[in-house]
Amino acid sequence: MLKDKRIILGVSGGIAVYKAVELLRLLTKAGAEVHVIMTRAAQEFVTPLTFQTLSGNPVHTELFNLIAEREISHISLADRSDLFMIVPATANIVGKIAAGIADDMLTTTVMATKSPVLIAPAMNVNMFTNPIYRENEERLIRFGYRFVAPVTGTLACGWEGQGKLAPPEVIFEAALETLTLKDLAGRTIMVTAGPTREEIDPVRYISNHSSGKMGYALARAATRRGARVILISGPTNLAVPDGVELLRVESACEMQAAVMAHVEGCQAVIKAAAVADYRPIDRKSEKIKKKDETATIELIKNPDILAGLGAMKSPPFLVGFAAETGMVREYAEKKLTEKNLDMIVANDVSQIDAGFNVDTNRALLLFKNGSSVECGLMSKDKLADKILDYIVTGLAPC
Ligand code: C5P
Repeated sequence: MLKDKRIILGVSGGIAVYKAVELLRLLTKAGAEVHVIMTRAAQEFVTPLTFQTLSGNPVHTELFNLIAEREISHISLADRSDLFMIVPATANIVGKIAAGIADDMLTTTVMATKSPVLIAPAMNVNMFTNPIYRENEERLIRFGYRFVAPVTGTLACGWEGQGKLAPPEVIFEAALETLTLKDLAGRTIMVTAGPTREEIDPVRYISNHSSGKMGYALARAATRRGARVILISGPTNLAVPDGVELLRVESACEMQAAVMAHVEGCQAVIKAAAVADYRPIDRKSEKIKKKDETATIELIKNPDILAGLGAMKSPPFLVGFAAETGMVREYAEKKLTEKNLDMIVANDVSQIDAGFNVDTNRALLLFKNGSSVECGLMSKDKLADKILDYIVTGLAPC
């Protein structure tokens, strides 16, 4: 996701430095080329060797380094970066940048950069709420610097309050968001995700193995690309991506009601949810008691939400999913036509690395015009971006 991106990771001296190591791993895993600059205080917490080993690049600690200075390293670093991050950022570093002080490698390089700057502060709650710090932060925000707010919790100093460095995954997401082209700005996209639950009685239900991971990855990616996202989710244990409008539902009928109530104004609907095809015809109001050797539950077909959307007079761009255990292309082609879809994402859920409950997928994309694309094994995040690329191409210009 960050292939070909060059990121400077500035590390200033606070107890949260060790979390910057975790962030570095996330950045390099996503393909970014990361160059680390450490302040003197940061080196008291973690040695440069750790950052050097994990980034694969020399760590910059000194402003005046005779070898690097042949090419004026702070200027060449600043010039060639796509994103400048400072994690963790102390009150001191924020104050220095806000005051225009450039007296070490980190402050000098950030002063020289034209790339976006993303700052994740971490400090004692009284420092964080100090009006001097607040004013410094606000001043930088006015100049276009972006901040990832610290979270509330027990701080290293023993105080309770806001000041804990945001989790590395949250800072990573903010980096991705900053670097992502907003090609879905002005669009509203609805995503459905997860399974549905069809109640049998107050304690039991019929459901399926869908984790919701693919739908949530789509919602996250579309938000990052600037879309307004309405996420209609069946029961899942997943973290709700920042910025999405979430509507929780349980059954297929509830999902249908939520979809129909919000579809107006959506330019695309991506139905990644694994909707139960049938529900018990008669939901018992009391728990069914154990009696005979065999028991029968009579089922009735659920409404096909996607087919309903496909039958609309002027439907939005419709993307369906087809989770199959064989004859994947044949079944997917049938659904594409029968439900009047623009695109269908088909996968064989009998494979262990694709489909339900895993972070990867292996999909076949089929389009209305008869063309198709095989997507080999990739993360659900990457597949989400691929699907959105086709949606961007398929949507009429704003
Ligand atoms: O027909 P099938 O259930 O295999 O089709 C899968 C696609 O249709 C998925 O995109 C799913 O979200 C959608 N679907 C639906 N309503 C149903 C069943 C499936 O919208 N009742």
